[in-house]
Amino acid sequence: MASRIRVGIAGTGSYVPERVVPNKWFEEFLDTDDEWIVQRTGIRERRFAADDESTSDLCLHAAEEAMRNAGITADELDMVIVGTITPDYQLPACAVLVQDRLGAKNAGAFDVVAACSGFLTALHTGEAFIAAGRARRVLVIGAETLSRFLNFEDRGSAIIFGDGAGAAVLMPHGECGQGEILRTTLGADGSGYEFIHMPGGGVTNPATVESVEAKMHKIQLKGRETFRFAVSTMSRLVKEYIADYDEDELGLIVPHQVNRRIIDAALDRLEMTDEKVMVNIQSFGNTSAASVPVALHQAVTEERCVPGKLVVLVAFGAGLTWGATLIRW
Ligand code: UT7
Repeated sequence: MASRIRVGIAGTGSYVPERVVPNKWFEEFLDTDDEWIVQRTGIRERRFAADDESTSDLCLHAAEEAMRNAGITADELDMVIVGTITPDYQLPACAVLVQDRLGAKNAGAFDVVAACSGFLTALHTGEAFIAAGRARRVLVIGAETLSRFLNFEDRGSAIIFGDGAGAAVLMPHGECGQGEILRTTLGADGSGYEFIHMPGGGVTNPATVESVEAKMHKIQLKGRETFRFAVSTMSRLVKEYIADYDEDELGLIVPHQVNRRIIDAALDRLEMTDEKVMVNIQSFGNTSAASVPVALHQAVTEERCVPGKLVVLVAFGAGLTWGATLIRW
C-alpha cells in the first residue's frame, strides 16, 4: 500500500453578512431580554444575511479569501466540499454553485450534512482524499444561513443562531509547509436525531401548506438535553486529543461556538482556563457549520495559531454528530 500523504492547511478565510442583529432586536417581539441572552449564552449580537444573500454567496467570499491566503487559483482545485444544513436549494448541492461561481472547472463538488460538525466532516473528508493521493487541492467550507430557518416565536432557539461562512484550502503538507493535520475523528449517535431537528420538507413530512403553517421546516431545539451532550463531548474529545502531549505544546483550542456556558463548563471539567481557547460567540452567535472555521480564521488573523504549536478543533451538534481535528500549526 502506498504511504499516506501528510496534509496541511494552506490558507483560511471567512465571511459574515453585514447586518448586525443585537439581542435587543428580539425584545420587540419575544419574551426575552439582552441580560438573559448574555448570561445564558454569552451572545451579544449575531449576523443575519440580507434578503438577496444566500449560503453560496457567503461561501464564495470565504472561499476567495482562503484561496488568496493559500496562493492558489480556482482551476487548481480538485474538490469543493461544503458542510451545510442550509443550502441554497433542496437540489442541487450548494457546493456545485460555489464550484461554478469560483470557476473551479477541474473540481468535483458535494455537500456534507452534519450540522455543527459540518466543517470538521468536510475537513476530515478532504484530508482523506489528499492522504490517499486522490486529490491535491481541496477547498472545504462550513456555511449556514440559519436565519431563514428560525422560528421567531420560539425564544429558546431563535436567539442562538447566526449566519456566516468559513473556509480552508487543504494541500499536501510538503507543498504548503504549515498546519499539518495530525489526527481527525468523526462520531455520531443518531438515536438523538430529534434533539435538534428540522422535521418538515423531507420525505417523511413533505412540504405542504399545513406543514409550512405548522413551521415544521424551522429548527426545533431541545436545549437542555443537548447542553449536557455538548459539555461532555467537548471535554472528552479535547482530553483524548491532548493526552499524549506536554501541556506547553498546546497552542489553542477552537471549539464550536455553541454557548459560552458550555465552553466554560467543558473547560472546568478539563481543569483549564480560557487562556488557550478561541471564543467569538459574543459577536456571531452559533453559526453551526460555520462556527469553527470562522473562529479558526479569526485566530489565524490574530496570530493565535502559533507555528509549531498544537491547535485542536472540536465540534458537536445535530444528529447527534461530533468531530475533532488536531493540527501542528
Ligand atoms: O450547536 C449545537 C446545538 N445547540 C445546542 O446544543 C444548544 C445547547 N443548549 C443551550 O445552549 C441552552 O440550553 C439554551 C441557550 C438553548 C437554553 O439555556 P438554558 O439555560 O438551558 O435554559 P432552559 O432551556 O433550561 O430554560 C430555562 C428557562 C425556561 O423557563 P422556565 O421553564 O424555567 O420558566 C425557559 O422557558 O429560561 C426560559 N428561556 C428564556 N427566557 C428568556 C428559554 N429561552 C429564553 C429566552 N429568554 N431567550
